[in-house]
Amino acid sequence: MAASRNPLEELRETIGHLAEQIKLPGGDRVDDRMGEMFGPKLGPARPLSELQAELDALIGLDTVKEQVRALVALLQVQARRKAHGLPEVATSQHLVFLGNPGTGKTTVARLLAEMYRAVGLLQKGHLVEVDRSGLVGQYVGETALKTDRVIRRALDGVLFIDEAYALAPEDHRMDFGPEAIEVLLKRMEDHRHRLVVIVAGYPRLMEMFLLSNPGLRSRFAREITFPDYSVDALVAIFGQMLAQHEYLLEPGAQQMLRRILAGLHSGEDSGNARFARTLFEQALNRQALRLSLDEDRSLDALDREDVMTLTEDDLAEAARALGEEPEPEPGPAPTAGPSRWWRWLMT
Ligand SMILES: Nc1ncnc2c1ncn2[C@@H]1O[C@H](COP(=O)(O)OP(=O)(O)OP(=O)(O)O)[C@@H](O)[C@H]1O
Ligand SMILES: [Mg+2]
Repeated sequence: MAASRNPLEELRETIGHLAEQIKLPGGDRVDDRMGEMFGPKLGPARPLSELQAELDALIGLDTVKEQVRALVALLQVQARRKAHGLPEVATSQHLVFLGNPGTGKTTVARLLAEMYRAVGLLQKGHLVEVDRSGLVGQYVGETALKTDRVIRRALDGVLFIDEAYALAPEDHRMDFGPEAIEVLLKRMEDHRHRLVVIVAGYPRLMEMFLLSNPGLRSRFAREITFPDYSVDALVAIFGQMLAQHEYLLEPGAQQMLRRILAGLHSGEDSGNARFARTLFEQALNRQALRLSLDEDRSLDALDREDVMTLTEDDLAEAARALGEEPEPEPGPAPTAGPSRWWRWLMT
């Protein structure tokens, strides 16, 4: 299980106290600086059951949930084997997350990191999320320094590299991306027991990335695929956001929501759950504007229901602001014209 007290945590605390006492200008940024160097300050570890419940509460993602459960169960069984004096089967925990933007990759990575902490694989279980710009420098030598710094921050937690394929551009002669990959592979080996790396990105580009360096394929043997969400799942995700923040849809607005979400084409630029979130936030803006412009009623006179309710128009305008047009309302079923057979008989 996670060790009791990390000396770096103690150092951080001491410097924090000192900064507080002498009130140096910028002393309040000590925590940020320490975070940059050693990773974030940690709260108490959450029990596995709580993390599992949070994962289960995510809409859809059935195969993802199953795979995460299997990963964690394997670790638990291996720990029991070790306790019984049996040999552990060393398995690599590094993962590839394949999925379009907004399919829940970061959300699941963050939970998985905490689960690794709960079962004792990682001491801290924090998530350090970077993309190419966080690893690759512009000058010779800068990339190794930058990558090293990020890895140091991620030690005892999970390093999540989003759009990892950007590290292996097709024309890599003048590019420092491959250097970052080399450093990463080396450090993964050096810190085998202190670092889990998850690389994420669009399915079609990640295959190219994994083939770009022979060391990658063997270390990232497991893949978890995040499918695009169905319209029903997106409606449910939106519903979850409403409930969480205590908002309601007026009668009829549910239909509008479905029409907006059905208008998204699936794929790399659909936005998936991220679109649902942005739509929700945009709808709150629209609601606020509508209420503030209402000449019949001042803001002070608004009742509980007024400030809770999002209307059909709030949603439609929010969608348009995001460049999405709701699908046309389903009309009566088109009446079938005379069949070819019938026309043929009548001539
Ligand atoms: N299954 C789900 N149930 C509920 N909310 C979800 C689900 N999946 C994603 N979300 C919400 O959608 C938003 C985007 O999710 P997340 O950031 O995890 O996606 P991502 O795949 O990392 O996207 P990106 O590639 O854009 O970083 C977050 O606000 C998250 O809370
Ligand atoms: Mg993400």
